[in-house]
Amino acid sequence: MPSVERERDLQGFHATIKGLADTILSRSHVTIIGHVDADGISGASIASIALRRAGIPCDVRFVKKLDENEINIINSRVSDTFWLVDLGSGSSSKFTNKAVCISDHHLPEKDLKADSGRGQRSIFSFEERHANPHFYGIDGSTEISGAGVVYLSAKEMNNGNTDLATLAIVGAVGDLQDSAECRLCGLNRQVLDDAIHRDVMTVAKDIRIFGRETRPLSKMLQFSTDPILPGLTNDAVACSRYLMELGIPLTDGEKWRCWIDLTKVEKAQVASALCNHLLDSGSGNWACKRLIGEVYLLKSERIGTELHDAKEFSTLLNACGRYGEGMVGLSICAGDRGDKLEIGLRLQRNHRGNLADAVSLVKDLGVERGRFIQHFHGRDEILDSIVGIVAGMVLGSGEVPSDVPIVAFAYSEDDKVKVSARATRELVQRGIDLAVAVKAASEKVGGTGGGHNIAAGATISIGKEQEFLAEMERLIERQMFGELTA
Ligand code: C5P
Ligand code: C5P
Ligand code: ZN
Repeated sequence: MPSVERERDLQGFHATIKGLADTILSRSHVTIIGHVDADGISGASIASIALRRAGIPCDVRFVKKLDENEINIINSRVSDTFWLVDLGSGSSSKFTNKAVCISDHHLPEKDLKADSGRGQRSIFSFEERHANPHFYGIDGSTEISGAGVVYLSAKEMNNGNTDLATLAIVGAVGDLQDSAECRLCGLNRQVLDDAIHRDVMTVAKDIRIFGRETRPLSKMLQFSTDPILPGLTNDAVACSRYLMELGIPLTDGEKWRCWIDLTKVEKAQVASALCNHLLDSGSGNWACKRLIGEVYLLKSERIGTELHDAKEFSTLLNACGRYGEGMVGLSICAGDRGDKLEIGLRLQRNHRGNLADAVSLVKDLGVERGRFIQHFHGRDEILDSIVGIVAGMVLGSGEVPSDVPIVAFAYSEDDKVKVSARATRELVQRGIDLAVAVKAASEKVGGTGGGHNIAAGATISIGKEQEFLAEMERLIERQMFGELTA
């Protein structure tokens, strides 16, 4: 049973969701600006499909971040209505254009709830068009994604839009919201219920390793990073040998077998062998528990394709977005299974190669350990758009300590430094909030930043890296130990 306070918060959030839906439905044209990652692309797709169904014409555009230039463009076009998806909350005070609507889940600039009283709407009319769970004590990093926030308004617009819940789930797993509990929780659960009731999604308990449906079995083990399989991850020969010793045929005629091709008995045999392997190699119960969890399957997609499992779908969207092809992802979400899917799959192959190259580069470079953070600099050898994913992979690799957050740098096209920071769930439980620290440290050195407690990013000037790191050291120490050890 939710507490009275939680109930009031949910009602407050729902009122904003509805207010935003009503505002959008009253407009004759809408420009959707989405964040160019899996969550932003799924969210913008939900928004554009809902508008098309409502007969409201719209344009869609994707951006890496909302910089001054973008904000100026939005503020100068007062006759248009803008719907910001998976971004905007970190800069809401900079909008002078009254026709800006925001559906976001990033840490807001300011906790307006604290100003206006728990669960009540802010007195500022703008907040009626600014839907963000954080204003209502709902955790935007685990309970609902940007696509989920858009979905809730789309459902308010028309209950027929509940088929779009699948895209909201793709957005949530794209933002790793299932990662902490190995299942989706919070408001994501309601979105999932909608998808199940509408008969567009099924939930299964299965192995959580990426590539269940599309990677040959030994490759699936070789690339497993969550959990790391000691002695198997990153070792192709060891993975094939391991499976052969278990008596699992790797091929079926000409075809490589994937996890989904195994019989029930074979699956149980491999899963229990992997669990014993993790325990024997000292990874502990924790890693074992991460092996099995919920997987979310889109019923309208063919089994064995890159679109059937929500996690694989989201990776495909990320591969589009991170290389400036958000519109390709939008077409795939809208149902294109021809040219656009072909382009997306090509981008995905390229993305996998880039990630593998970047991770091995970081291995060569080494990660420099400070007192409360560790860092590496990808300079112009790691794309700024993927440096955050790389930072997360390195932190989770087991090859660097995970008792402090990781900060990664890379040069961006606009001659700046892109910063990405990642923490673990345990660090967040100990009080680390990277959104707060990265925002403050970047502003201290003249940059901008924000994000979530577990994953945050920023842009700073070249040459400011050391100053930024020093400030992060100070802030993370304070978050870990409170004000006492200033
Ligand atoms: O901008 P947005 O909110 O969509 O992005 C969230 C980011 O946080 C994603 O890049 C996601 O991979 C990252 N994340 C993470 N670890 C988590 C949760 C989220 O790296 N446990
Ligand atoms: O870019 P990266 O994957 O590191 O971003 C991590 C999180 O921080 C994402 O949710 C992203 O939207 C957010 N972020 C931000 N402001 C920036 C850069 C990233 O809010 N300047
Ligand atoms: Zn998001």
